[in-house]
Amino acid sequence: MLFLFLGLLAPSAATDGDQFLYTGFAGANLTLDGAATVTAAGLVELTNGSTHQKGHAFHPAPLRLRGSPKGTVRSFSVAFVFAIVSGYLDFSTHGLALVVAPGIKSLSTALTDQYMGLTNAKDDGKDTNHMLAVELDTVQNIEFKDMNANHVGIDINTLTSLQSNETGYYHDNNGSFQNLSLISREAMQVWVDYDGEATQINVTIAPLAMVKPKRPLISYIYNLSTVLAEPSYIGFSSATGPGNSRHYVLGWSFGMNKPAPVIDIAKLPKLPQLGSKPRSKVLEITLPIASAALVLTVGIAVVLLVRRRLRYTELREDWESEFGPHRFAYKDLFHATKGFKDKHLLGAGGFGMVYRGELQKSRVEVAVKKVSHGSKQGMKEFIAEIVSIGRIRHRNLVQLLGYCRRKDELILVYDYMSNGSLDKYLYSEEDGLTTLDWAQRFRIIKGVASGLHFLHERWEKVVIHRDIKTSNVLLDKEMNGRLGDFGLAKLYEHGANPQTTRVVGTTGYLAPELVRTGKATPLTDVFAFGTFMLEVTCGQRPIKQDEQGNQFLLVDWVLQHWHNGSLLEVVDPKLRGEHNSDEVRFVLQIGLLCAHPSATARPSMQQVLQYLDGETLLPEMTRADLSFNMLALLQRKGLHVMSWPCSSTMVSAGTISDLSGGR
Ligand SMILES: *[C@@H]1O[C@H](CO)[C@@H](O)[C@H](O)[C@H]1NC(C)=O
Ligand SMILES: *[C@@H]1O[C@H](CO)[C@@H](O)[C@H](O)[C@H]1NC(C)=O
Ligand SMILES: *[C@@H]1O[C@H](CO)[C@@H](O)[C@H](O)[C@H]1NC(C)=O
Ligand SMILES: *[C@@H]1O[C@H](CO)[C@@H](O)[C@H](O)[C@H]1NC(C)=O
Ligand SMILES: *[C@@H]1O[C@H](CO)[C@@H](O)[C@H](O)[C@H]1NC(C)=O
Ligand SMILES: *[C@@H]1O[C@H](CO)[C@@H](O)[C@H](O)[C@H]1NC(C)=O
Ligand SMILES: *[C@@H]1O[C@H](CO)[C@@H](O)[C@H](O)[C@H]1NC(C)=O
Repeated sequence: MLFLFLGLLAPSAATDGDQFLYTGFAGANLTLDGAATVTAAGLVELTNGSTHQKGHAFHPAPLRLRGSPKGTVRSFSVAFVFAIVSGYLDFSTHGLALVVAPGIKSLSTALTDQYMGLTNAKDDGKDTNHMLAVELDTVQNIEFKDMNANHVGIDINTLTSLQSNETGYYHDNNGSFQNLSLISREAMQVWVDYDGEATQINVTIAPLAMVKPKRPLISYIYNLSTVLAEPSYIGFSSATGPGNSRHYVLGWSFGMNKPAPVIDIAKLPKLPQLGSKPRSKVLEITLPIASAALVLTVGIAVVLLVRRRLRYTELREDWESEFGPHRFAYKDLFHATKGFKDKHLLGAGGFGMVYRGELQKSRVEVAVKKVSHGSKQGMKEFIAEIVSIGRIRHRNLVQLLGYCRRKDELILVYDYMSNGSLDKYLYSEEDGLTTLDWAQRFRIIKGVASGLHFLHERWEKVVIHRDIKTSNVLLDKEMNGRLGDFGLAKLYEHGANPQTTRVVGTTGYLAPELVRTGKATPLTDVFAFGTFMLEVTCGQRPIKQDEQGNQFLLVDWVLQHWHNGSLLEVVDPKLRGEHNSDEVRFVLQIGLLCAHPSATARPSMQQVLQYLDGETLLPEMTRADLSFNMLALLQRKGLHVMSWPCSSTMVSAGTISDLSGGR
């Protein structure tokens, strides 16, 4: 009895079965998982600024949703104050959601990135989720039919919102709509009200200082009695993708069959002071590397920085004179994209946004990529390399047409590829997208091999692409595969020794020695290309997930089938057996060879092309040649398969995937 009594006197939460109020969370008894913590200041921090993570914070006691065991879900009301603090001014991943679900454990298999810690690829949309979420979504994800990168949505069992609206509120006095930016770093208040009789869900959002606007932003009829299970718990879920955002909850209240207690704004904890300088959007996944290597990297980086400084003076002259005429005027690009309207957005990613546009004078269709770039010094080098790459012409490479600079922003203009990126054809379940047949896939593989061979061996410099993957392969009008997005590419003189750099690229495509040494070489590209070949043939992402939610690598799976003599069983079922078995077997074997953990066992792109064209016979592969397990190998090196690979609208580390894609 005494304990019960003391429990009711918990410091910051006034709580009983049907009502609670948290004015800050210091000392609060919340159930937390993932990245979620309560900070010393008393904020719930759902994500802490690392990429690809998720966090949950739940009220510990179940909700008494129903008056009687068989009754309907009663009216309830929630208020909370949140803030999203991104490391970048105009970009943040992925958002935050208020969620009612069977419990925090039911979210344990949920994924990061666009899944926002709520569902995963397999479970999204299932009735058994028994989940209501109100999402505050800061990324436009085409997979979930998001309207833009700043919306509030009502989600039932799936991240495809039943209704969503641009974030904002209606003025009480004149009814006019005022938009708000979720990623403004300002604390805002949200109210979620459910009327059990009318089965109506209202969502309202307003700036912190404002009383609750009378007209809700969203009002949606849905009978939650048909959705929510008994018991159900309430809490928050949040996930980051490639962006280093922090998601905070400052205060929270709940009322069952009565209004949620008013949150005393004045008593809320303060948000942490922000660093003065917003970071640039250039993202890099820095993978855990042995600390010795790190020290070495720092040393080399210092030397490199000094050398880059010296190189500028030369390069600057070079690129200005060479590329001057190809520099686009911002005005033209602005008009071409109708002012960078959301409607023209092809994709959003860690690096920035890509828009479709049409140049007014020439009526040429282009893909315009906006990259925010803080560091002036990095910018010059970046442009010098981009300009260099702009001179490359090859039928299997997306042509870079030019660039434009504006304050801290770099804008790249590419050929528009009307058929979008390859991954959409492999993975999208969208109607109207035809599956690629084997002949088309084989042609795309050969095309990309030819483009990559050109970059490695045929051009005046060695270009290492560093981010080969299906979402960076775009399809032109004739469905030719073209390698795009040179945002991470590195250039070297032929014969020069590649330098150590920070490890960038996409999980699942990274060669083991790249992670170990930080040296990107043509053979690390070959590794990624091997994974790419397997992916296109199997129609499976490089990191697979089984029924139990265990992750494993596509390479290992294919290899296992090769050992079992059942190689053809890995072929994409969407091909329905209509493929040339010899070609398929052949491509899979080359794929395995390219994705070999030992760099010396991998062929060069020249050899890959010769194999593919049938000019050279593929060497006989023995069991000993291919006795490896990539995952075990990577894990032994302290590398973990970090996250489910991003969908096409998402990004890899450091690049936007849909470079000039879109339909
Ligand atoms: C976030 O938390 C993880 C552990 O959960 C830690 O490894 C990482 O360094 C933290 N990130 C930041 C930016 O503090
Ligand atoms: C926290 O809440 C849970 C669930 O209501 C309860 O079992 C536990 O005793 C609480 N812990 C504290 C320290 O109040
Ligand atoms: C909100 O969404 C609904 C349904 O899509 C739409 O009818 C309404 O006009 C939208 N309101 C605003 C302000 O966008
Ligand atoms: C509506 O009222 C608000 C606040 O009084 C004001 O800022 C806004 O300009 C008004 N809008 C219109 C269209 O009158
Ligand atoms: C509101 O929308 C207008 C026009 O779409 C845009 O210019 C403005 O930046 C938006 N404001 C916020 C706070 O997002
Ligand atoms: C939801 O909003 C409508 C007005 O759009 C209002 O009539 C209704 O009472 C509201 N319901 C709740 C539960 O707030
Ligand atoms: C909502 O669903 C429950 C359970 O199916 C049902 O008993 C109830 O009548 C429904 N309410 C309305 C208003 O349709």
